[in-house]
Amino acid sequence: MRDILDVITSRKSIRRYKPDPVPDEMIDKILEAARWAPTGENHQPWRLIVVRDPETRRKIGEMAKIGSGIFTTTEYCMGRMRQFEGIKDPKKRERVERFMYTGEVSAFLGKAPLLIVVTGRCDALDTPYDLSACAENMLLEAHSLGLGACWVHGPVAPIRGEIKMKELLGVPQGMEKFKLLAVLSFGWPLEPRKHPRPKLTLEEIVYWEKFGRKERPSYV
Ligand SMILES: Cc1cc2nc3c(=O)[nH]c(=O)nc-3n(C[C@H](O)[C@H](O)[C@H](O)COP(=O)(O)O)c2cc1C
Repeated sequence: MRDILDVITSRKSIRRYKPDPVPDEMIDKILEAARWAPTGENHQPWRLIVVRDPETRRKIGEMAKIGSGIFTTTEYCMGRMRQFEGIKDPKKRERVERFMYTGEVSAFLGKAPLLIVVTGRCDALDTPYDLSACAENMLLEAHSLGLGACWVHGPVAPIRGEIKMKELLGVPQGMEKFKLLAVLSFGWPLEPRKHPRPKLTLEEIVYWEKFGRKERPSYV
């Protein structure tokens, strides 16, 4: 059996796709992967909306742009978007910042051949965690099939975005009824996969026995 770690460590978010459709058998496999994610008390609150209609995808792309623009600008105003300050070239930095703060970063949803909107009943405290596990399963399955995929929170990040998306897709309104976690996009990657984005090392993120303790104690 292929080590799942190979799939996990070679996945990266793909935002540019060929226009070719995703075959039905692949869609079914991605959905099947969702179904097997763990959930608090095996609650399985998820409801997944598969969107292929071009007009609906176009509208979701517009919502994604607006939503991500609002979200990233708000984050910036709250002092939480400082990562671009590391870009030395001022022209490049301006380009990247404009891409983020206009929401252009998420507009690609309109061009993705397949979207899966991850929503779930809000009748348990675990719902957001359950839905996240389900979304990750789908991203990994898509990657193992050679597809590109991306998790996009932007369109549903602002409350108004979530309300509008619910209107568009006929999801019952009311924060207490359903949560829209994210829109996942899928398609054949337009260009060869570049190396995955850099990640923190285990050294940086793992503590042993107590918070902050970096030495690994030996146990026999
Ligand atoms: C909770 C969450 C929200 C995200 N929202 C967006 C988004 O709104 N727009 C977007 O283009 N990418 C979004 N992403 C993708 C991240 O930008 C991406 O995972 C991150 O940069 C790490 O890159 P990688 O997935 O290639 O490892 C999101 C990912 C997660 C897990």
